[in-house]
Amino acid sequence: MANTLKPMPVNTKYFGARASEYDDTRKHNSVAIEDDLAIAAFLALLPPSSIIADVPCGTGRAVAAVLAAGHRYRGADISEDMLAECRQKLPYGADATLTQADARKLPWADGECDHLLSIKFLKWLPTDEIVLEVLMEYRRVCQGKALVNVKLARERADYSLRELKDRCSKIIDRLKFGFSVRSMPFKTFETQCKRAGWTIVSATENTASHGIVHNLILD
Ligand SMILES: C[S@@+](CC[C@H](N)C(=O)[O-])C[C@H]1O[C@@H](n2cnc3c(N)ncnc32)[C@H](O)[C@@H]1O
Repeated sequence: MANTLKPMPVNTKYFGARASEYDDTRKHNSVAIEDDLAIAAFLALLPPSSIIADVPCGTGRAVAAVLAAGHRYRGADISEDMLAECRQKLPYGADATLTQADARKLPWADGECDHLLSIKFLKWLPTDEIVLEVLMEYRRVCQGKALVNVKLARERADYSLRELKDRCSKIIDRLKFGFSVRSMPFKTFETQCKRAGWTIVSATENTASHGIVHNLILD
């Protein structure tokens, strides 16, 4: 399945100015700050010197946290421009590598990484089948746990203002660019996890996102 890598709009989104300005767009973002806390809490659970895959690593938001927790860092991203920003965050001599790769075909051997981070990515995948492909590739390279950040759709009639705003911006993005992020029903995501060999062991809502973003630990 992973050999037929269909192009996805998100593959081409994070280049040029989007990459160089990416960190600035994040500053003071309450959802990002809470996700960073979830990343640090996850890393603190793991045995020291674990090899942590960060897919996609983007501009390297997790680099400092991974190294500060005493782990080894392995980042992969499809965008050379995001990787160039990330490279500047790698301290000299740190046990950290970066590789340009598609998340559906990662550059590591089976079980080469101990644990894995996937932040702000699965929501960009256009179909449930591609979510499955990515989760299977994560499972192939990672022996242990994964922290995955997803947008989950709740099946209910009442929506918070934040959720309504989120729905409107998705519609606008679809009209403007032809694609947008997706929120998956929890059950659908859980099914894809099971098919890929993962079990969801914990699910934490990002409260700043008002019920939209969730950080899930898979094992
Ligand atoms: C919203 S950013 C998130 C980056 C990082 N995880 C973070 O939280 O800052 C999405 C990233 O996905 C990368 N990307 C897009 N398509 C990809 C693919 N097929 N495989 C790997 N990375 C991809 C983009 O280049 C971009 O860096």
